[in-house]
Amino acid sequence: MDRRQFLIRAGGIASFSAAGDIVRAQTSNQGPALVEAVLEARETWATLAGRPAQLYTYNGQTPGPIIEARAGDTIRISFRNALSETTNLHFHGLHVSPAGNADNSFLEVPSGESITYELPIPKAHPSGMFWYHPHMHGSVARQVSRGMAGLILIRGEFDDQPEVRDTPEYFMVLQDFDISEAGLVNEPTTAEKARGREGPLVTVNGKVNPTVPLVSNGWTRLRLLNASSSRFYRLRLEGHRFTITGVDGGLVTTPFETEELLLVPGQRVDAFVRGEVPSGVFRLLNLPYDRFGAMGGGMNSFIVGRLAMEPLAVASFEYTASAQTQWSMPDRLAPIEILSAPQVRRTFRFGMGMGMGMSAGGFTINGRSFDPNRVDTRVALGSVEDWDLINASAMDHPFHIHTNAFQIVSGADEAQSTWRDVVLVPAGRSVRIRLQFSDYIGRAMYHCHILDHEDLGMMGIVDVVSV
Ligand code: C2O
Ligand code: CU
Ligand code: CU
Repeated sequence: MDRRQFLIRAGGIASFSAAGDIVRAQTSNQGPALVEAVLEARETWATLAGRPAQLYTYNGQTPGPIIEARAGDTIRISFRNALSETTNLHFHGLHVSPAGNADNSFLEVPSGESITYELPIPKAHPSGMFWYHPHMHGSVARQVSRGMAGLILIRGEFDDQPEVRDTPEYFMVLQDFDISEAGLVNEPTTAEKARGREGPLVTVNGKVNPTVPLVSNGWTRLRLLNASSSRFYRLRLEGHRFTITGVDGGLVTTPFETEELLLVPGQRVDAFVRGEVPSGVFRLLNLPYDRFGAMGGGMNSFIVGRLAMEPLAVASFEYTASAQTQWSMPDRLAPIEILSAPQVRRTFRFGMGMGMGMSAGGFTINGRSFDPNRVDTRVALGSVEDWDLINASAMDHPFHIHTNAFQIVSGADEAQSTWRDVVLVPAGRSVRIRLQFSDYIGRAMYHCHILDHEDLGMMGIVDVVSV
């Protein structure tokens, strides 16, 4: 193994430098590397929308540094908790072990303590964009909404193609904040937690409405993450369409065009934009989205409260250069093996207790609130299962599971030939997913990725056992 340093781009990713500016250690061969990162969780005063704000950061920046690796590499993270409260790290979407010092969300790192996480990335790991964030049950929404999130890139063959490599690539981490006059993050009320906290200040890489360069007569690659604890983003780029090449768990088989993207918390998208005009500025708009679909009119406006219902410019794209090379998007990117028929079917019902009462503990899956000492679902290593996710509640719930991505069988208009690790289950609807529990035994979590709902108990444990 040779060593490839982890990368921290000067100034974080806030400066919108292209991927070519990423600092990478030089490797002399293509063999597996050890990618070493040093991360410290700490409280930092930052500037948000021109005002000071006290945030939770990794290495003093939000979002945290990008960690980049390739399938077959090992990521080693020396993590220190300089917060005054317990935290830990979860590696969202990575297909790595949920046990030991890998993606083990049961680990706790008390204030002042350190730990070394070690993540051997399997040789067959899909390339894509994943992320790290805290997973301390009860504090996840608070810690993430104060700024704790960072990207993990797994590079692969698609990224190596010269046309793709030469395409300017921008990472866009979407976060929202609720900051007081004094620069402190406001603690949400019980009702705000029940619906999922949203902050009025929407940022991309910690900036309000930043300018992103766009090339004319060529492609620009956008890699988006919704790192907000509850906010959904329904995105549209004025005058342009997105060509989608990847979702959560990697490449799609066939790129497709769309005018609008819905990114629910935890989801990622890899989108290319073709610059077809010579110049101009185009806004990336976040359009209103109603997460409370099944609630009646009056109730709806009560619960939505001050959540923004106006289109909001989250970034502005400005033509700055013209493309050096012309290329067209291939028709097929990566073959995706469609999972075979399931051996087991299960049902998971999201519950919100006594409706509007919404007392803590009222947030459940199959009637039970999270208990770290209880296994909810025991599955056999290697088996394929269909899970019916049933949302009879009055609010949308984005379902997420650790360790293994899944394919969507029905209930969401998405081809089965994509790998997702978060799927939206809208209020009053159900979605069937198909999963295979490959490679790793051990306990992992599944939950609603509205992080307040997770903290309030909408989470369960799956234990993968060898048979
Ligand atoms: Cu991104 Cu269990 O979470
Ligand atoms: Cu996760
Ligand atoms: Cu939820």
